[in-house]
Amino acid sequence: MSDQAPPRVLVFDSGIGGLSVAACIHRYLPGVDLVYLADNAGFPYGDKPETVVIDRCCTLIARALEQYPCDVIVVACNTASTVVLPHLRAMTSVPVVGVVPAIKPAAAKTRNRRIGLLATPATVRRPYLDRLIEEFAGDCRVERIGHPGLVRWAEDLVSGGVVPADELTDAIKAFHEARVDTVVLGCTHYPLLLESLKKSLPLVRFWMDSGEAIARRVAWLLEQTDQFAGAGRPVTEPVHSPVSAALFSGSAPEGIARFMSELGLSVQLVRGFWPAEPTEAGSA
Ligand code: DGL
Repeated sequence: MSDQAPPRVLVFDSGIGGLSVAACIHRYLPGVDLVYLADNAGFPYGDKPETVVIDRCCTLIARALEQYPCDVIVVACNTASTVVLPHLRAMTSVPVVGVVPAIKPAAAKTRNRRIGLLATPATVRRPYLDRLIEEFAGDCRVERIGHPGLVRWAEDLVSGGVVPADELTDAIKAFHEARVDTVVLGCTHYPLLLESLKKSLPLVRFWMDSGEAIARRVAWLLEQTDQFAGAGRPVTEPVHSPVSAALFSGSAPEGIARFMSELGLSVQLVRGFWPAEPTEAGSA
């Protein structure tokens, strides 16, 4: 791979949640060049109509591909993935990977057949989720919480915000009452809140997210196109920043480069990306 450009993967989310997925991809595929694209001007998607989410995702991703040709697109947002995947696949020949709440692995893990599903208000309402539960966890009690506050608390971490512990415990008390032993993090923002969630629900044994499964799927797709990027190889001497560009449809969040570094995702360039010309640029 020395004199060859590394494979490039576009990771998309409404905000910073997709960074939890990008971090898994980087750990699994350290040779991959990541481009991160966040529709933070449209955040949160959890309260948006489907048509708005579809339109915003397709427009932004199409524009990003013009400037940053990619080998794989990852829609690192459960809320968007429930509606946008067929539209993206009709729009581009680049393989598209979506995120599905980890109901199936959760059903394999739970000991007491009680699962908590934590997602955005939109995701918990979508019929697609009913089908997923019916197919893979039909014999489990699945308690759903679609709370609007959690994604905001995760976003606030970038500027040094602290998760409000009492409000969080209150938001997820239905899981405590249902005595779930397994919780599915059905929104990519939530792995960023994991330490706080564990404190609020100390009896939960298994916390499931989709990051590793996505990373494995990306590796498989890259292998199909001979773009294999060293899956599982330890990062010894990174020759480049894992993220060549972080693109934001609104203003880039204050402190984003530092926050990304803490996740192991140092970034070369942070810039605005919507609607036509960059609204903000700067080296990170
Ligand atoms: N990270 C997105 C998800 O996985 C966040 C949703 C939002 O913007 O409300 O669903």
